[in-house]
Amino acid sequence: MTITKTVAKGLEGVIVGDSSICLIDGNEGRLIYRGYDIHDVAANLTFEEVAYLLWYGDLPTRTQLSDLKKRLREERPIPGNLKALIRSLPLSSNTLDVLRTTISALGTGTPLKKPDISDAISITAKIPTINATFDRLRRGKEPMDPRPELGHAANYIYMLTGKEPDSIKTDALNKYFILLADHGMNSSTFTARIVASTWSDMYSAVTAAIGALKGPLHGGAPAPVLQMLKDIGSPDRAEAWMRDELKAGRRLMGFGHRLYRTTDPRAEILREIASTTADKKFFELARQVEETGIRVLQEDKPDRKLYTNVEFYSAVVMDSVGLPTDLFTATFAASRTAGWSANVLEQVANNRLIRPETEYTGPRDRKVVPIDKR
Ligand code: ACO
Repeated sequence: MTITKTVAKGLEGVIVGDSSICLIDGNEGRLIYRGYDIHDVAANLTFEEVAYLLWYGDLPTRTQLSDLKKRLREERPIPGNLKALIRSLPLSSNTLDVLRTTISALGTGTPLKKPDISDAISITAKIPTINATFDRLRRGKEPMDPRPELGHAANYIYMLTGKEPDSIKTDALNKYFILLADHGMNSSTFTARIVASTWSDMYSAVTAAIGALKGPLHGGAPAPVLQMLKDIGSPDRAEAWMRDELKAGRRLMGFGHRLYRTTDPRAEILREIASTTADKKFFELARQVEETGIRVLQEDKPDRKLYTNVEFYSAVVMDSVGLPTDLFTATFAASRTAGWSANVLEQVANNRLIRPETEYTGPRDRKVVPIDKR
């Protein structure tokens, strides 16, 4: 029997397994975590509750939540050897490289172990500490110890700035963390699942996922989005600027998505948040750049339906809560690690090695010529 194989470049439309974590309806613009619509989730939960939901499948009771918060708090400090490692890295390092290196180091010194929930909690708790430690060191400041009484979002801002944030900033970052926590079989999550499928450990899976998140086609877009908004400067310059970008063969950062053929629901919620946290003039600029970008892309790619993706208003929100631009993607990782680890746990609970194929297009039947005759 001949097996017919089709090439699915970029694995577009390929179903690689089943999952009960996250549902994306790209035509309707819906995102669902474990059965709960993202609008409901963002309006009513904290990041800690969402992490519990992603890891365990159900919302926590009061006792379960307080137990998880305690475990997260206890896991926030990073060991001395990790602090020393971060201090040894060049101050000019890309923050995602620092995070990738540090999570990798965190996974050393212990025997290979099947991923479990304690790994998920430890990594999720430590990423904000790692980011903040490096950010303060490169600014010539001593790292702050985590504050146990603060939640995930408030403690992150505290460790970066040394000041307890106001409730508006805390709420904005908490919502950002919720919205970015999981998103189906995106490139970094798929990477994490591939690693886990080989019976490797959680630290290796998350380290690899961080590498995948770094690229601008995935998690590396928000810093270029902010740069785009700054370069455009005023709404009347948006159209010419964007047309020039497209003419030069470049992509408009923060627009387009593999799955959404309408507005990304996370972009809608982040737009709403940005309208209260960002500088009014800057928010208005972003809104008009969004409108112009959608129109210009509609003319350029009429069949594609390109709208703003999550990264567009992520950039505006993260900027408005005072995060440094080059910490945007590492902050994304502080949220997505909940989803990565939930997916790793799901993968190992019902594992099959992920091992796709390529269609071979190279030469065949060649014979090796001795080196002095080549
Ligand atoms: N600007 C200009 N053209 C675009 C854009 C964009 N932002 N997005 C897609 N297109 C065009 C492509 O050039 C392509 O045109 P072609 O068919 O003539 O070659 C067509 O639309 C389809 O693009 P693909 O790359 O096949 O679409 P895909 O679904 O694979 O890409 C992606 C999704 C990578 C996000 C893309 O829209 C993009 O590059 N956007 C800009 C970068 C970005 O915002 N990244 C963050 C994504 S959100 C996240 O990962 C968390």
